[in-house]
Amino acid sequence: MSKITAAITAVGAYVPDYVLTNQILETMVDTNDEWITSRTGIKERRILKEEGKGTSFLAINAAQDLINKRRINPKDIELVIVATATPDMKAASTAAFTATQIGAVNAFSFDLEAACSSFLFGMSTAAKYIESGRYKNVLLIGADKNSSFINYEDRATCIIFGDGAGAVLFEPNDEDLGLQDEYLRSDGSGREFLQATYGGSLYPMTKESLEKGQQYVFQDGRTVFKNAVSNMADVVLKILERNNLTKEDITWLTAHQANKRIVDATANRINIEKDKVMMNIEKYGNTTSATLPLLLHDYESQLKKGDNIIFATFGGGFTWGSIYLKWAYNS
Ligand code: UT7
Repeated sequence: MSKITAAITAVGAYVPDYVLTNQILETMVDTNDEWITSRTGIKERRILKEEGKGTSFLAINAAQDLINKRRINPKDIELVIVATATPDMKAASTAAFTATQIGAVNAFSFDLEAACSSFLFGMSTAAKYIESGRYKNVLLIGADKNSSFINYEDRATCIIFGDGAGAVLFEPNDEDLGLQDEYLRSDGSGREFLQATYGGSLYPMTKESLEKGQQYVFQDGRTVFKNAVSNMADVVLKILERNNLTKEDITWLTAHQANKRIVDATANRINIEKDKVMMNIEKYGNTTSATLPLLLHDYESQLKKGDNIIFATFGGGFTWGSIYLKWAYNS
């Protein structure tokens, strides 16, 4: 019997309608379009404005898009993983609510949190369930409502983040397509440089912390940037070396969209052409867990069966890694 590999067989996505442009940000904080564009590559991001809607709203819509596009019966889905850094609430899982809302009534579900690497680590997790031979349909959703913990008076963070969601379906494959290899890392000494400090079990929210805005994301951008550039490139090189891949073998680099300069630096280190580098940061900013599936969604029509895709992320924690996946279908 041939080995079971875990392949992505469908993609869906959702972003909210409201567009927060650099020009609008210029009226909110001391910044300008030229600075944001040259330092990050971002032109606009989407924000979920409506009250009473959380990350699950984004996740449900992305999953629904996938279900409608591929005419999947939600009752066949066995596991729903929601990769997110902004769950709807503490204690009740966003994935459980999402699964029920999309009609995945036979699935179990859980949330997975690893900051900007949540979706990448989710790919690894989803693949293991498929490779075990026990599960045939695993839905992985990356969704974040970053606007829920961003301070729109802090120009160091509010220009970067956006809201959005993407979903992929993992199914078994007997042609050796799908996930081939992974190299995943974390280093907790990085958490002082990127965190939302108050509101967790370590520092429950207080009146004083709220007054100081310590529930919002704080980032030492320069330190995170330096670590992102070196670590993302390192793991990609490691994956290429381990699988005897040269730059000619790579069809696509699919890297976390935190800053165009970080992605460009990774692409330069492996010396691949610009047109092999997926990029959509200009439209959505950094959507944390949603960047990778939003890239797959935007580039889906260009992907061919057998394409070699190298995924890479770097984010809070620190968490980072790379995955080598062979694309399994033509759209
Ligand atoms: O996905 C999670 C992981 N996150 C990341 O990967 C983000 C990594 N970091 C970054 O992307 C970049 O560090 C930022 C985009 C956040 C900042 O870019 P930078 O080139 O590292 O700028 P900087 O923080 O070193 O600031 C340079 C200057 C400073 O002024 P001085 O001290 O040189 O006078 C800042 O005060 O730019 C100033 N500045 C701004 N100016 C206009 C900082 N933010 C802004 C702004 N608009 N929004």
